[in-house]
Amino acid sequence: MIRASVVGASGYGGAELIRLLRAHPEVEPVGFFSRTFEGRPLAEAWPQLSEGAFHGLERAIEEADVVFLATPNGVAMELAPRILEAGKRVIDLSADFRLPKEVFEAWYRMPHRAEALLSQARYGLVELHRPELPGARLVANPGCYVTAATLALSPLAAEGLIETLLVNAASGVSGAGRGAEGTAFAEVNEDYRPYKPAGVHRHTPEIEQNLGRVAAQGRWVETHGPARPLRLTFVPHLVPMTRGILVTAYVRLREALEESAIFERYRQFFAGEPFVRVTEALPRTKGVFAANTTWISLRKDARTGWVVVFAAIDNLVKGAAGQAVQNMNIIFGLEETLGLSAEGLWP
Ligand SMILES: NC(=O)c1ccc[n+]([C@@H]2O[C@H](COP(=O)([O-])OP(=O)(O)OC[C@H]3O[C@@H](n4cnc5c(N)ncnc54)[C@H](OP(=O)(O)O)[C@@H]3O)[C@@H](O)[C@H]2O)c1
Repeated sequence: MIRASVVGASGYGGAELIRLLRAHPEVEPVGFFSRTFEGRPLAEAWPQLSEGAFHGLERAIEEADVVFLATPNGVAMELAPRILEAGKRVIDLSADFRLPKEVFEAWYRMPHRAEALLSQARYGLVELHRPELPGARLVANPGCYVTAATLALSPLAAEGLIETLLVNAASGVSGAGRGAEGTAFAEVNEDYRPYKPAGVHRHTPEIEQNLGRVAAQGRWVETHGPARPLRLTFVPHLVPMTRGILVTAYVRLREALEESAIFERYRQFFAGEPFVRVTEALPRTKGVFAANTTWISLRKDARTGWVVVFAAIDNLVKGAAGQAVQNMNIIFGLEETLGLSAEGLWP
């Protein structure tokens, strides 16, 4: 059994980790830490849970083989060094180990205080990085929008087909975390709005980095391998639902390809992937609710030549906790799909 702990267990990513780790057949959860709820029943933070309690940070670290850090940006760089020194593994859901130091500092506006660890980190987008993940000690779990956008566009990037790229996306409110400002019911209900559009949102450089790596390295990607410069315009929106991300990406291709030929490339690229679904039917966020699946489709506008690619994920599962568990499975040599579902809940 793998002994697993969660730091940030009173947040939305933490709640989803508790759910998945408790149901995982090869995991013994040994510590759920929150500064606010330490020593108190889990039910005080999570009414859906009837058993268990929050523990102290020391226990969460000492008793674990792997510690999931579901904490705000800037926390993992403080905690990861001591967890790794204690011989444990770290899967970090924040942005602390996803980008080179100078890119991180420019976009996240804070100094990076664990620079020495950046070269050890492996980027945990399994569908592109699977070969380098077994045995990893420190995994940077990708951003939620980033996961959907990267998978939506990798088959095109891998063949150098992307000439111009606009990425439009919408996220449910849980994407901002439990304590986010401006997410009160009266603020978000019946409202649909863009935020941080066009070169401002922090996931922009991460998507560019991922697609640039795929463009340089092809189907399988190494975190510290080469990347081609690639630019895109990213426009996120907030949509009044709890979970889910839908990416709609507009691409001008370097080659004139028929829609069927593009579909064929997507099917080949993702052949055998347990958590990617490529269909003619258009994706819906509800179709991946609580699932670890990325659901992708596309259309070509025969009149204008634009290719439009769609991808739906559950931001808390494939966009966060589910992908983190998928990484844990690979790190420890377990079946990659253990404890995860490719099919979600409806309604
Ligand atoms: N929500 C998503 O869809 C999503 C998707 C992908 C990635 N992420 C990333 O995952 C991380 C967690 O996101 P979330 O949505 O779960 O956030 P959240 O709901 O706001 O929860 C944050 C958690 O971190 C704890 N925390 C806050 N400051 C801390 C500190 N200084 N030291 C230790 N613990 C601290 C909080 O509990 P206490 O204050 O009680 O300690 C809480 O449990 C973030 O980095 C986020 O960007 C989130």
